[in-house]
Amino acid sequence: MSPAHPLDRLSVAPGGALRGTVRIPGDKSLSHRAVMLASLASGSSRITHFLPGEDCLGTIRCFRAMGVPIEGAGSEWIVHGQGLHGLKEPGEILDVGNSGTTVRLMLGLLAGIDGFATVTGDASIRKRPMGRIVAPLRQMGASIDGREDGTLAPLAVRGRKLSAIHYQSPVASAQIKSAVLLAGLRAEGTTSVTEPLLSRDHTELMLAAMGARIRRDGLTVSVEGGHELSPCDVEVPGDISSAAFWLVAASIAPGSDLLLENVGINPTRTGVLDVLERMGADITRLNAREIAGEQVADLRVRAAKLTGTSIQGEVIPRLVDEIPILALAAACATGTTLVRDAQELRVKESDRLSAIATELGKLGAKIQELPDGLIIEGGTRWHGERCESRGDHRIAMMLGLAALVTPQPVEIEGVRCTETSYPGFWETLTGLRA
Ligand code: S3P
Repeated sequence: MSPAHPLDRLSVAPGGALRGTVRIPGDKSLSHRAVMLASLASGSSRITHFLPGEDCLGTIRCFRAMGVPIEGAGSEWIVHGQGLHGLKEPGEILDVGNSGTTVRLMLGLLAGIDGFATVTGDASIRKRPMGRIVAPLRQMGASIDGREDGTLAPLAVRGRKLSAIHYQSPVASAQIKSAVLLAGLRAEGTTSVTEPLLSRDHTELMLAAMGARIRRDGLTVSVEGGHELSPCDVEVPGDISSAAFWLVAASIAPGSDLLLENVGINPTRTGVLDVLERMGADITRLNAREIAGEQVADLRVRAAKLTGTSIQGEVIPRLVDEIPILALAAACATGTTLVRDAQELRVKESDRLSAIATELGKLGAKIQELPDGLIIEGGTRWHGERCESRGDHRIAMMLGLAALVTPQPVEIEGVRCTETSYPGFWETLTGLRA
């Protein structure tokens, strides 16, 4: 592996307790959806507490390229929606950077555009499976082509008139479900998706808030095509996937006591709370409230002794992005933790099962990789070491927080990628240790 640029390398000092208050940055999934749905609405929507990370800023760039006026900066934006049929043929290649959510959800919208578009992304995106999105969209009448019969980006889309389908998704994936529902907004008839387990339901909640005709029946959700969306101001809650790093950090670093403000606790996302509570974590939910159809609370977390657990089945889609940081919790716990049914982690920003086992293993953790999971032995004898993020933001942050329990510094190659989901993460860590 070639050495990283000096600015892309960090040495994280060992030990220390975390104390203070963290205002958790806006939810990544909701920030993407707010821009996309507001772009389709007939009128202007204000988005506040938007996540100004590289992934979500990339979504703004793509929708501007499709003729949507979007004004603002940082975490406050106004999107001037162009109506259900208002997206224009982009004059440039749409580059989503590292963002799987942008490319997959946007494909659902491009499938019905009046014109032609090409979509690509960084080296990680160009390796990630797109056939799972292209297959149902083709069933609806979409014309999409790309490398390996349209299963890999770059992808080229010629917009077509779409028809409604019922899609039985083989994977519990909010990205697949959302792409089909978004295509269904412009299809003739009622489009429905059934998934094997419930994945995050932000798309359907936000669509309903904007007046779309959405129905849920168990694991099936449907949308009636052809109805315009009303604009809607969105205050994005803090991202529980970002809060998860502090929930584990404060649990494992003796003497820690953190207040995490404004965290989204939509039940399709709270698997991490269920698992940490089962492991013995000391987490209190305070000030529970609802903002624009999404549940929010403040979370207080104090250091606690953790015990190993089993993480499998229906909880997996509810914590799919939290397995890297839960692996660190498991390595600090007493006893063994088993993770199963998590084969989706092999096709995230990196192969996360391999990255967790190898990179956390370099710091002393005893982790056995399974085809669909991990066996993690607790009671690790930690040591400082040099490790690699593999360009994956969640792996970089997890490795950085391992320094809270190592006796020597942890050197990480590839830390700039944290900008995709958590700008300011390292500064926040420094501030909480002071
Ligand atoms: C996301 C869904 C998840 C998650 C990703 C964001 C979304 O992917 O891993 O980080 O915003 O819809 P899958 O739904 O494909 O599992």
